[in-house]
Amino acid sequence: MMDKALKITPEATTGKKIPGLDPLGLRADFPILSTLVHEKWPLVYLDNAATTQRPRQVIDSMVDVYETKNANVHRGIHWLSEQSTNLYEEARNKVSKFINAADSREIIFTRGTTEGINLVARSWGDANIRAGDEILLTEMEHHANIVPWQQLAERTGAIIRWLPITDEGHLALDNLESYLGPRTRLLAVTEISNVLGTINPVAELIERAHAQGILVLLDAAQSVAHRGVDVRQLGADFVVFGGHKMLGPTGIGVLYGRSKLLKAMPPFIGGGGMIRRVRKDGFEPADLPLKFEAGTPPIVEAIGLGVAIDYLDRVGLPAIHQYEQMLTTRAHEVLQAVGDVRIIGPSPRDKIGIVSFVMRGIHAHDIAQILDRYGIAVRAGHHCTMPLHKRLGLTATTRASFYFYNTLDEIDKLGTALEETKKIFRRR
Ligand code: ALA
Repeated sequence: MMDKALKITPEATTGKKIPGLDPLGLRADFPILSTLVHEKWPLVYLDNAATTQRPRQVIDSMVDVYETKNANVHRGIHWLSEQSTNLYEEARNKVSKFINAADSREIIFTRGTTEGINLVARSWGDANIRAGDEILLTEMEHHANIVPWQQLAERTGAIIRWLPITDEGHLALDNLESYLGPRTRLLAVTEISNVLGTINPVAELIERAHAQGILVLLDAAQSVAHRGVDVRQLGADFVVFGGHKMLGPTGIGVLYGRSKLLKAMPPFIGGGGMIRRVRKDGFEPADLPLKFEAGTPPIVEAIGLGVAIDYLDRVGLPAIHQYEQMLTTRAHEVLQAVGDVRIIGPSPRDKIGIVSFVMRGIHAHDIAQILDRYGIAVRAGHHCTMPLHKRLGLTATTRASFYFYNTLDEIDKLGTALEETKKIFRRR
């Protein structure tokens, strides 16, 4: 009954082209996008801030490694091990070029963004932070960029301070100087909020922090595949991101650190591969980057990430950003037309393709559940940002997040399904 009442139909999506980006052509590379949800509705995947989908090229490359090149890296003398080691190191070079690092030894493979932040908090933090030192966070950080610093503060007696946000969802920078004091050691800040979508002025933040001798860790999880990160242009100290939010596999992430900092830091996890020598009375760590890559690394995942970067390079980040802004603008219009919707965060001009919202009288989880009936995948809840939600006076929001394979038609379907959601709740 409800399907009849709903104006949306399970037909193929239409895509609008922008110069250099053909969403429908690109969609063909993503097998999962042809999935029928509940065996009926074409998947409308609007949960890209949680994880992106993988193109066939990435999936195939990983199958190929397992089928023809699988061996451990940096250990074997045999031919197969040379193949996998070369591919693994080639992936590191691709990451290094993608973010414009000065040297590929500044690229540490991790399991993901979260592990990268924990590595810095444990290794750099334990070696450099003393009781009374201050770590500056912002009210829009993801728990991954909060909890490791709280744990560091518990271990050391450091103090966590919070840079506030405005009601519109921007960082409040008017009093920034008062947060950058003589005891501030680190500013850990997200480049793009995973809830508000806000693009933070990180170049300015880094410049102002550096002027006071304060290091900056940049959480680039939501920015690297949407706007890109140029670590040298920014002069960033540490940058972290994960593969699965940039078309790559899960289980692989990147910590970029300036080599001077990384060289001075003690290893985080101990084991094979990260040592130069082990004696009964101690060990000498290996040089960068292996010092921070104990145990067998996620080899195939790193290689898959390299192929994801090739793919992103072909599509082009400027075109992706431009296209996403078009989708986001449409999403704002469509949601406003639905009515009783409050969009959280700034206008499309100041953000990427993330639109979080609340609907009057309807819980975020109920919205997500009804959208799912029509094959529309969104995320609902606190999105691992409880302090941000508390600041906004909310417990949960619904979040639609886009990528270049989404279409304007899909955004319109979201609007129609939200209208339907409203009707369902009015009937109750
Ligand atoms: N950090 C991811 C998100 O925002 C999981 O959904």
